[in-house]
Amino acid sequence: MQPAVSVKDLKIAYGDHTVIDKMSIDVAQREFLVLLGPSGCGKSTLLNSIAGLQDITDGEIWISDKNVTWAEPKDRGIGMVFQSYALYPRMSVRKNLSFGLRVAGLPKAEIEARIARTASLLHLDKLLDRRPSELSGGQRQRVAIGRALVREVNVFLFDEPLSNLDAKLRNELRVEIKKLHQSLGNTMIYVTHDQVEALTLADRIAIMKDGVIQQLASPSEIYHRPTNLFVAGFIGAPAMNFIEGEIVLKGGTPVFESNGLAIDLAGYPFLSAAKAGPVTLGIRPEHIAPNGADAGWPTIPGTVSVVEPMGADTVLWFDWAGQSLSYRIMGDAILQPGTAIAPGLDIAKASLFGADGARL
Ligand SMILES: Nc1ncnc2c1ncn2[C@@H]1O[C@H](COP(=O)(O)OP(=O)(O)O)[C@@H](O)[C@H]1O
Ligand SMILES: [Mg+2]
Repeated sequence: MQPAVSVKDLKIAYGDHTVIDKMSIDVAQREFLVLLGPSGCGKSTLLNSIAGLQDITDGEIWISDKNVTWAEPKDRGIGMVFQSYALYPRMSVRKNLSFGLRVAGLPKAEIEARIARTASLLHLDKLLDRRPSELSGGQRQRVAIGRALVREVNVFLFDEPLSNLDAKLRNELRVEIKKLHQSLGNTMIYVTHDQVEALTLADRIAIMKDGVIQQLASPSEIYHRPTNLFVAGFIGAPAMNFIEGEIVLKGGTPVFESNGLAIDLAGYPFLSAAKAGPVTLGIRPEHIAPNGADAGWPTIPGTVSVVEPMGADTVLWFDWAGQSLSYRIMGDAILQPGTAIAPGLDIAKASLFGADGARL
């Protein structure tokens, strides 16, 4: 099937400062694609170029079977939601929702039908006669989303729509956006710097750094098989533990060595092909366990430095070879800072990265 949106060899530069270079990406029909990356990596620039709000230096933008590279935003068949709600303060919610449709000259009955549908989807029915100043932040953002939805187009673009909300509202609205996508079944491209939003909402995440897509894959693939050190370190909280060391071949089998650790990789099919040389071993906090030795895992000796209770689980930080590492257990910890420990490493779940940072 034709992709809903295609970005082809996109280049965007300000003078000789190139923000995006030769980027290509296809977004499938009905897909929820999240653009994730640190501030300044080019997420908004990319989204705005799809919306037609940003001049491009080179390349093409296609929406379904149309080359819209030079089309006006209003002719692209997209709806967009921004971080700042940008509502008209003097207009009621109803007027805010209908404004674009009235300008476009839609018949009155059609406008009313669309507002009714949208208001019901977003639970705005009882708020239609209020002005933005009479709404909470979450309600305002619902209206901003509604203003995109009334256009009843195929592709919706969101630029950090939840960033201005407090944590509780952010969580609530995040779930609603997911429900909305499930019930509407259209294509959504959603920009965020928040990994939780990316992991929970996306069918696929495009994780970006300096205008370059580092990995484009499902949340699970990105979390469990990050393609390089940047992705591995960006996704996951607390972050993946990184242990720098070296692969040494002993009688043909690779052994990971670092500061007295020696971990035989022969029993781990996807690590056992590792070649001799410097590497970084990456292991997530939930793949280090206090009783790991019982499962036959290699252990790492350390001293507990900080215990962070998080409610459902607890993160323990410990010092090993001058480095701070963390692991996560379910429930409460009984250990105190200063306790000597030797948790086990679930090497089957670990990642190895070469000297250039790429996954081995
Ligand atoms: N008008 C502009 N002139 C020059 N550089 C710009 C302009 N707008 C954005 N940039 C640069 O483009 C890069 C990407 O910005 P942006 O797309 O807003 O990042 P993000 O949305 O990921 O935070 C940044 O380095 C920013 O400084
Ligand atoms: Mg931005």
